[in-house]
Amino acid sequence: PVYTQDDVTKHRTLEDGVWVTYNGSVYDITDFVAVHPGGDKIMLAAGGALEPFWALYAVHNQEHVLEILAEYKVGEL
Ligand code: HEM
Repeated sequence: PVYTQDDVTKHRTLEDGVWVTYNGSVYDITDFVAVHPGGDKIMLAAGGALEPFWALYAVHNQEHVLEILAEYKVGEL
C-alpha cells in the first residue's frame, strides 16, 4: 500500500504504533524499538524520516542494518 506523510506522522508512540520512512518506503518498527541496540533514541525518528538521524549516527551505514529495516516494511510513501 501507499501511505501519506500524514499517515506516518500519526504513528509515533508505542500505543499507536511507531512508523518511520526511509528512501521512499514506510516501516512499522513498533516491535523493534525494544530491541534497538541504540536504545530509546530511535523514538526521535518516530513518525518521520530516518535519514537525518542516520546521517548523524553512521553506525547505521551497514548492510546488516538495512536488512533489519527491510523486515519491517509495510508500504510506500
Ligand atoms: C545502533 C538499527 C534508528 C541511534 C544501532 C544498531 C542497529 C541499529 C542494528 C547496531 C549497529 C552495530 O553496532 O552494528 C536501527 C534501526 C533503526 C534505527 C533498524 C530504525 C528503524 C535509530 C535512530 C537513532 C539511532 C533514529 C538516533 C536518533 C543509534 C545509536 C546506536 C545505534 C546511537 C549505537 C549504540 C551503541 O553502539 O552504543 N541501530 N537504528 N538508531 N543506533 Fe540505531
